[in-house]
Amino acid sequence: MKVLMVCLGNICRSPLAEGIFRRVAEQRGLDWEIDSAGTSGWHAGELPDRRSIQIARHHGLDIAGQRSRQVTPQDLFEFDYVFAMDASNLRNLTELAVAQDSRARVVRFLEFAAYKGGHDVPDPYYNDQGFREVFDMLESASPAVIDRILLEQRQPLSVPTPGGIAFDR
Ligand code: 4NP
Repeated sequence: MKVLMVCLGNICRSPLAEGIFRRVAEQRGLDWEIDSAGTSGWHAGELPDRRSIQIARHHGLDIAGQRSRQVTPQDLFEFDYVFAMDASNLRNLTELAVAQDSRARVVRFLEFAAYKGGHDVPDPYYNDQGFREVFDMLESASPAVIDRILLEQRQPLSVPTPGGIAFDR
């Protein structure tokens, strides 16, 4: 399974999502490929924001090896799931996906998890206090996201027609 986490800058939220989700998947014994990217290339090549590195380290997670990159049209073919952190990221990804006739399932991370406290992971860039909340949201939603991916693999999203041909929904 190939999973891509996407936010705006790929320095605050999606690097945390990548690190947290990879750890939860590993704990479940799943050998999945997890990556992250930004809808913008503003911080391409940079390390994660020091506040993200710090909150991750506080939770025993090292994300300092990551480097920011911009999402590409090709990502929408190569990844099975592309998770947006917020509605704005989703809008940008959907535009890219429509233009590219993508293969990936593109959805907001918290919505896919049926998270109770809203479906956007708030941008913490101008809010030092926001990083803790971002970490907690991502960590608490990750197990539900994994459960749902596993469920979808067992029950593919296809509708058999009377003629017997299955169309993807
Ligand atoms: P991220 O946060 O999308 O979670 O990585 C941001 C990073 C940088 C900017 C905005 C949000 N920026 O405006 O440069």
